[in-house]
Amino acid sequence: MTARMFPVADRHKDKVYVITGGAEGIGRACAERFAAEGARVMIADINPEGAASAETIGGAFHRTDMADPDQVRALADATIARFGRIDIWHNNAFSAVFKPIHEQALDEFDAITGVGIRGYWMGAKAAVEHMRERGGKGVIINTASVQSFVGEKGFSAYQMTKGAVLALTRSLAVDHAPDIRAVAIAPGLIKTRAVETIADDVMAEVIADIPAARGAEPEEVAALAAFIASAEADYMSGTAVILDGAYLAIG
Ligand SMILES: NC(=O)c1ccc[n+]([C@@H]2O[C@H](COP(=O)([O-])OP(=O)(O)OC[C@H]3O[C@@H](n4cnc5c(N)ncnc54)[C@H](O)[C@@H]3O)[C@@H](O)[C@H]2O)c1
Repeated sequence: MTARMFPVADRHKDKVYVITGGAEGIGRACAERFAAEGARVMIADINPEGAASAETIGGAFHRTDMADPDQVRALADATIARFGRIDIWHNNAFSAVFKPIHEQALDEFDAITGVGIRGYWMGAKAAVEHMRERGGKGVIINTASVQSFVGEKGFSAYQMTKGAVLALTRSLAVDHAPDIRAVAIAPGLIKTRAVETIADDVMAEVIADIPAARGAEPEEVAALAAFIASAEADYMSGTAVILDGAYLAIG
């Protein structure tokens, strides 16, 4: 499945879109999708391979550790210097070791929350300050997870992080309406690098719990992100859109 299967030409023409964690997986698919819809795309990632993706789509790359406040600020400044403004900021970067709390070290917790809570907060802060200063409209998208809503064994710090992402999304939406919208995306199983390393027998069990009987392609998340950021979704804010093949519907 590719973005070209759902063409919405020029919906984001000349909009400036920042995607964190854009070198791989969902982030890369989002970068490609927004570029295909006419956006000027800034890919931010700790992985320098994001530069190649940026070149392919005619966008820009800024090497950024989203856990470092100075680097997040530099990312916003570099985007404004390159493209003149920021219209859509998408917090998506992710780094996690999945463990229950009694096995998790404090430095692992700090690394997970440093990117997934502190990094999202710093990204949103840089974007909101710029959007307010400009007096313009803007959209913040935060990638959450089905684990924002449910407990699954062995994901302690990650689940806490993804719960906080919903709370951040709500507070941004309430504080900055109507000019700035904030929406979370809560994906279920998406076929990215981390998921591809799961053993076949374990994956069969995971799929058995998903009514849609499959994981989704990153491009399906990207299609949703592009809709959320569009004028068609102008009344959508302070909420999360779940994309999970009915996984949560089972209860
Ligand atoms: N894949 C899934 O099944 C799934 C399900 C639910 C939610 N999500 C969420 O989707 C988002 C993207 O996940 P993915 O599966 O595409 O992951 P991924 O591992 O494929 O990509 C994550 C990207 O984040 C980058 N990154 C890691 N640490 C960083 C840092 N400190 N600063 C900047 N960039 C950093 C990585 O280099 C990588 O390019 C995450 O927020 C994740 O929690 C994924």
